[in-house]
Amino acid sequence: MNRREFIKRFVVSSALIGTSASAAYELLVRFSNGQGHQAVQTIQQQSTQNSQGSSTATSLIQTPSGYVFITAVSAIGGRSSAYFNHPTYGNSLLINLSGQWKAFSATCTHQPCTVDYSSGSSIRCPCHGATFSTSNGAVLGGPAPRPLPEYGVQVDANGNLFVTAGVIN
Ligand code: FES
Repeated sequence: MNRREFIKRFVVSSALIGTSASAAYELLVRFSNGQGHQAVQTIQQQSTQNSQGSSTATSLIQTPSGYVFITAVSAIGGRSSAYFNHPTYGNSLLINLSGQWKAFSATCTHQPCTVDYSSGSSIRCPCHGATFSTSNGAVLGGPAPRPLPEYGVQVDANGNLFVTAGVIN
């Protein structure tokens, strides 16, 4: 049984085991593409139960090379910002600037406080008032000595949001 078959069987088995009235979960699967590169696919499975029983929809998410999957945009629920856990850099912040997504480390470069975004063109640190640009994380004011590290962001046609595995600024 190759890995794809294993993944399919795992998903089907999981569906057969059954879920509660409403459940959603994700499974990250790493596999080799045969050329020595690692590709990452995420299997998202959404199970719901209705009066006729349960139904399950499964979709594969293709993660662009150099990116990591973070979330479906729909899960952010129209908010202008959301925190997420970057697999390498930890506590991080997504910002929606009129439909353009930006992503930064959420840890202030002055001391380890979590920065915050509500609106406008600056991100603010509540500890000593440093402000950073939403364009590129540059310091706009306050005691912070360096910009906020920034990640690149991509959203695919299905509304899945990815950020770069490394920082771009
Ligand atoms: S910790 Fe952010 S400004 Fe001091």
